[in-house]
Amino acid sequence: MSKPIVVITGASAGIGAATARRFGKEGYRVVALARRLDKLQELQKEIGAHCSVEEVDVTSADQVKEVIERIEKKLGPIAILVNNAGAAFGIEPAQQCKLEDWKKCVDVNINGVLYCTHAVLPLMVQRNLGHIINLGSIAGHYAYPGGNVYGGTKAFLHQFSLNLRADLLGTKVRVSCIEPGLVGGSEFSVIRFRGDEKRAKGIYEQANALEVDDIAEVIYFCAAVPSRVNINTIEVMPVTQAPAALTVHRST
Ligand SMILES: NC(=O)c1ccc[n+]([C@@H]2O[C@H](COP(=O)([O-])OP(=O)(O)OC[C@H]3O[C@@H](n4cnc5c(N)ncnc54)[C@H](OP(=O)(O)O)[C@@H]3O)[C@@H](O)[C@H]2O)c1
Repeated sequence: MSKPIVVITGASAGIGAATARRFGKEGYRVVALARRLDKLQELQKEIGAHCSVEEVDVTSADQVKEVIERIEKKLGPIAILVNNAGAAFGIEPAQQCKLEDWKKCVDVNINGVLYCTHAVLPLMVQRNLGHIINLGSIAGHYAYPGGNVYGGTKAFLHQFSLNLRADLLGTKVRVSCIEPGLVGGSEFSVIRFRGDEKRAKGIYEQANALEVDDIAEVIYFCAAVPSRVNINTIEVMPVTQAPAALTVHRST
């Protein structure tokens, strides 16, 4: 019998690509989604024939609906959806942020997840089987300067995941939210710092950050536990990171 189908968004880089490799290693039929087809095709070559790729912008509800319908028709029922595509654009204080950057962040991190979930969830409920795994962040729990809208979108994903479970009670559909701290080896900081590779690299210097494979392992674990188990949330930090002390501004 062929292994289940796992659809992973944002699979052209970082955590998404590592997750595709992890499920691919176990023989799952991996469908890797992102906008950069060339990167996806490289990944496909690496994983093998049980990996297929689809070019999609998750901020387009129409593209997402069309691609999900195509996957179901061509390959079969989607068993696992990993809503991983996400980004932060800038780290300025809120009062200096461009509204455009906030809108882009909400569009990918929230709307992208909603479009994918909306397209897949009814099919999972109909089959009474499925698992949605969302990529949150510790930024959704712990405030830090410049985290403003990015952290807000990840807090949304935390609560959205729990609320989905509330609606899905009585079905066998599972929902998990994985909330990592500092993860190196992805494009996340390069995008956040608008292409400033040197600044991005500095974030990870001597930090012994989590690696993308660490998070891929956690995601795979959530899917691999017995079907009676629903992992609601997992928060993961490198040992070198901890919730920061609360800051007090003192007037002189
Ligand atoms: N790195 C960290 O420290 C960290 C910590 C906590 C949580 N996270 C979360 O983990 C997830 C993955 O992050 P990462 O570190 O692996 O970042 P990354 O290397 O920048 O990967 C992001 C992925 O999202 C895709 N993507 C972005 N916009 C998209 C769009 N509109 N449509 C489709 N795909 C889109 C990108 O592919 P294309 O550009 O090819 O479309 C890329 O494959 C994100 O949700 C992030 O918020 C990361």
